[in-house]
Amino acid sequence: MDDQRQHWGDAAKHGALASVIDPNDRRGMKNLYISNLRDDVLQRRLPSHNVSLLDFGCGSGNLSKALASRDRRITGIDITPELLELAVEQNDPETCKFVHYDGGVMPFADRSFDFAVTYVVLSHIVDNEQLLSTLTELHRTLKDQGEVLFIEQTRRQTTTTPDGIKKQRNVAEYVGLFERAGFEVASVEHVRKARFLPLYLIRYGLIGEAMFPLMRRLDSLFATLFPAPRTSYVDTLFALRKQRQSNG
Ligand SMILES: C[S@@+](CC[C@H](N)C(=O)[O-])C[C@H]1O[C@@H](n2cnc3c(N)ncnc32)[C@H](O)[C@@H]1O
Repeated sequence: MDDQRQHWGDAAKHGALASVIDPNDRRGMKNLYISNLRDDVLQRRLPSHNVSLLDFGCGSGNLSKALASRDRRITGIDITPELLELAVEQNDPETCKFVHYDGGVMPFADRSFDFAVTYVVLSHIVDNEQLLSTLTELHRTLKDQGEVLFIEQTRRQTTTTPDGIKKQRNVAEYVGLFERAGFEVASVEHVRKARFLPLYLIRYGLIGEAMFPLMRRLDSLFATLFPAPRTSYVDTLFALRKQRQSNG
């Protein structure tokens, strides 16, 4: 946990978006595209009526900002104070509030939220038993029949990055952990490939923002049609529902 807090605390100096996606993206176009795809995938699956939503591992609050609306009460929670400062700076306190915690018990009552969303946070909880207890916590804080949308990096074979900061699990491993925590897995979809060739053109400004909607559609289509090669990952959307008490 301390290594994660240190890693993300150091990353915060790169600013709200680069800190949580790619600090080496000098023009910022790649980060803009990836955050745009993330926001679109989640926005389209969330209801517009009055809901309470937990942004788990909210970081600098970019996703909360994109999902905020008059009818959504958003609460972001994260372990990294430096990122939470950026989240508070760039969000309206009327729609989003942000909470720091230590990665253990979340300071929320049972059945607080209708929905939980997360983007590339479970990948940073490298130990499976720690992940299971985090998932059990999330389960506790959701209302009965509450829904969860997780986007995580998956690989054909579970791989931990050499710096030990991220574990890209395979889909079956995630599904097993979700079920053990008491979730029903409603769907699994690949939404973005790490090696989507136009991403290089986006990065160098050769494909502009106006083309992002088309690129997003192509990206998701390729991710669905062509499974990730052995050497790279794919962003995978898991839709879960809380059905019963956790098995612990
Ligand atoms: C790749 S960033 C994603 C941030 C945010 N979800 C986004 O889309 O911009 C990973 C985030 O996970 C957070 N994190 C790591 N371990 C965590 C844990 N055990 N509980 C909650 N957040 C955690 C980090 O502080 C960081 O903000």
